[in-house]
Amino acid sequence: MLEKIKQTAEWLRVKIAATPEVALVLGSGLGKLGEEIAVEHEFPYAEIPNFPVSTVEGHDGKLTFGYLGGKAVLAMKGRFHYYEGYTIQETTFPIRVFYAMGIKTLFVSNAAGGTNPGFKIGDLMLITDHINMLPEHPLRGKNLPMGPRFPDMSNAYDAGLRQQALDIADRLNIKLRQGVYLANQGPTYETPAEYRMYRLLGADAVGMSTVPEVIVAAHQGMRCLGMSVITNIGQKASKVTHQEVEEAANAAQPRMTAIFRELIKSL
Ligand code: HPA
Repeated sequence: MLEKIKQTAEWLRVKIAATPEVALVLGSGLGKLGEEIAVEHEFPYAEIPNFPVSTVEGHDGKLTFGYLGGKAVLAMKGRFHYYEGYTIQETTFPIRVFYAMGIKTLFVSNAAGGTNPGFKIGDLMLITDHINMLPEHPLRGKNLPMGPRFPDMSNAYDAGLRQQALDIADRLNIKLRQGVYLANQGPTYETPAEYRMYRLLGADAVGMSTVPEVIVAAHQGMRCLGMSVITNIGQKASKVTHQEVEEAANAAQPRMTAIFRELIKSL
């Protein structure tokens, strides 16, 4: 594992010849931010040594290096989900590589179903914390030397970055909700009873990603910012489709992009 991480980081380092300040993970229907990047290099996942290949509909699967808000960034368009059949370590492999490249800050985004009754479709939610309901833990097994055996998770979603995001949203007049993201393995969306249960457990939104990536980033001491786009409302007990999720994410993209861009600028 360690050898593969180093090999991939080295391969990217040689191709890019710069150290990005931020890595971005762009979720379902949220790839447009990638179009704002002044692109210097683009790598389809299939071309990157040791990278898994993304298979899900609506995920392009490429890594983009370029400049956004005047900063060097590395963006993943499309991520690796546990439900696709990857091991949990494969889903988080890129985050290991980013750290090995010297990247200290990670922004993650996703589409999620709202369980907070105050949320509306299209709302942006700054992730304050998470609940991990995935059946496998990304740090299970021999501890890799990038972090401690028992990592602290009290500030996994960096409080300073969150405050900056809130200030920026305020300045741009963008409504930004805050809440707890709960990760399920999927690929089913939740039943109405499950949405209700997750609400009782303290979740404001549920999704199928992000948590493994943030756990690995936290293990490595990286600062993380997470944002969900609320694409459907759980307690409405109405049908949820991937198309509807993508459309809602798409509509919210300009707002999420604006906050990310300004935040990156101010780093
Ligand atoms: N549940 C899980 N994942 C999701 C949802 C949801 O309701 N909406 C978008 N991704």
